[in-house]
Amino acid sequence: MKEMLNTAKREKYAVPHFNINNLEWTKFILQVAEEERAPVILGVSESAIQYMGGYVTVSKTVEGLLSDLKITIPVVLHLDHGHDLISCKKAIDAGFTSVMIDASKKALEENIKETKEVVLYAEEKNVSVEAEIGHIGIGEASQEEYANIEECQKFVLETKVDALAPALGSAHGLYKGLPHLDFIRMKEIAEITGIPLVLHGGTGIADSDLQNSIQNGICKININTELQVVWAQAVRTYLTENETVYDPRKIIASGEKAMKEMIRYKLKVLKNQKQ
Ligand code: 13P
Repeated sequence: MKEMLNTAKREKYAVPHFNINNLEWTKFILQVAEEERAPVILGVSESAIQYMGGYVTVSKTVEGLLSDLKITIPVVLHLDHGHDLISCKKAIDAGFTSVMIDASKKALEENIKETKEVVLYAEEKNVSVEAEIGHIGIGEASQEEYANIEECQKFVLETKVDALAPALGSAHGLYKGLPHLDFIRMKEIAEITGIPLVLHGGTGIADSDLQNSIQNGICKININTELQVVWAQAVRTYLTENETVYDPRKIIASGEKAMKEMIRYKLKVLKNQKQ
């Protein structure tokens, strides 16, 4: 992921991180990314890993799809919000190529200590590490939780992470109000740390704000809820119109078109296509 994000930083685009929830979502994302020739990051949360069966199942599922679908674009399998070293180690050992350690709820020194431990383990296996600073919550962001510039500098110097997700006004899930991204702080953090920044909570952020973020140092944009919403809407409509259907393949696939359109649209917004 480090290499992928440094290229994005140089060429001023953002690589999308789409969260996966099952085999079908993984397939849909990979198919569109391949068609568009766009590098992509498959993000998996700990709860999605548990849902899908475990770290090895997720890793082997992705490996199998990459081979069977003959995917040639660069693909990263990334642990999203790993909450401790044990979880990150499990992902790395199972073959994930990138992990996020999220100790952002802890005090700065503790966050640094835990992140350093993950970096040490990941380095040996050539796996990239993302960490979070400030706190990116759910639904809305509080000003007090925005990342502090000096703390980001110290954090990156001491931990040597490959990518940093500073809290800058975005939040996970559907926004309760309008998100207010702090672009000035974003730019300063990008300059002072010199590493690619990550924007969590990509759902519900205006296209122009996403593009503005890229201009100010964001190289990876995480999107989850937006795909869930369009998929669920399409499936709901399909089930209402086809009350007697029971084949799970038909039900899950009824959200494919809507999801693929959204993925394609986001790739365009993030200018992620290879020129
Ligand atoms: P959304 O669900 O708001 O798109 O956020 C996704 C995310 O940041 C995953 O880490």
